[in-house]
Amino acid sequence: MADSGPFKTVGSGPVKAPEPPPEMVTVVIDGKSHQFPKGTVLLEACNAVGADVPFFCYHAGLSSPAVCRQCLVDVKGQPKPVPSCYTPVADKMEVQTKSPRALDVRRQMLEFTLVNHPIDCPICDKAGECLLQKHYFDWDAKFARNDGIKVKKAKVVDIGPHIVLDQERCILCTRCIRVCDEVAQTHQLEMAQRGDREVLTTAPGHKLDNPYSLNTVDVCPVGALTAKDFRFQMRAWELYTMPSVCPGCATGCSRCSIARNSPWRRNGCRRRSTGESASSTGDRCTCASTSWPRDTGRSSSASRGASWKDQRSRYRSAKRPTSWYAPRFVLPT
Ligand code: SF4
Ligand code: SF4
Ligand code: FES
Repeated sequence: MADSGPFKTVGSGPVKAPEPPPEMVTVVIDGKSHQFPKGTVLLEACNAVGADVPFFCYHAGLSSPAVCRQCLVDVKGQPKPVPSCYTPVADKMEVQTKSPRALDVRRQMLEFTLVNHPIDCPICDKAGECLLQKHYFDWDAKFARNDGIKVKKAKVVDIGPHIVLDQERCILCTRCIRVCDEVAQTHQLEMAQRGDREVLTTAPGHKLDNPYSLNTVDVCPVGALTAKDFRFQMRAWELYTMPSVCPGCATGCSRCSIARNSPWRRNGCRRRSTGESASSTGDRCTCASTSWPRDTGRSSSASRGASWKDQRSRYRSAKRPTSWYAPRFVLPT
């Protein structure tokens, strides 16, 4: 054994054999053949090769209930379009993501989602990074066919110490419920009522106050959940994002740190960590990590202690626009 000097060798237990390479399957997507590891979610596979399949309820870090029906694709041999977020790839599968039938059902589902949506975009914190806005412009962009009379729901619901809910903007995707159930393991949110009266609400006797509650704001694909400390503070296209590490505890979860360019928002950086994945099309703040930061970690800045100039140069070298709009601002020199 090589001399390790004054240091003792640790971890001398049995060495684990390397994992065998994953079994690959061949899938034909829009006429082109591709290989993916067995078990890959079809939505991930389609978007990995640039098919740009939209989605709302899918999130890489959560289970897939397939409730929004926005990711429907045609699979050869299936009598009707299938939700790609709920379907694993299989060998010799043939998928059409842009067949007339798949595009038509997606447009119909989008129209259905928008029937009672308030279209608050000019005053909505999510404008510029909202999946509903993006899919509308990408896949539909038609005038509404309803008469303008929409079902009214509560606009400002205080559901916890950090978060405000707008029930009209909620598209009932259940991502926030799954964060509570699967990450925080506490059932604090649920759906109430049915049909066009269905609303997100807190479970009886509960508030949204679990230690991971701000992750619900991150995963919400629309502007239904807003953090009290960030609400109405700035627009998404004023923000830049860079990879960072949470200094909240010894785990050091990976995350995106987001800041405004000018004036510099030093200790109030909006911070998120999402495993959105599935897309070049989804939330532009796609951190590679699927870690879920605790609320306490968010209130401490990874850059705290660094000088204003140091922080600025770090963002300038790693910056990435947060919004799916083209960035309108340049970083201050
Ligand atoms: S949630 Fe999206 S579509 Fe709805 S008002 Fe906000 S930005 Fe507009
Ligand atoms: S509040 Fe957001 S995350 Fe929760 S169900 Fe509604 S749209 Fe989905
Ligand atoms: S049904 Fe697939 S993303 Fe919602």
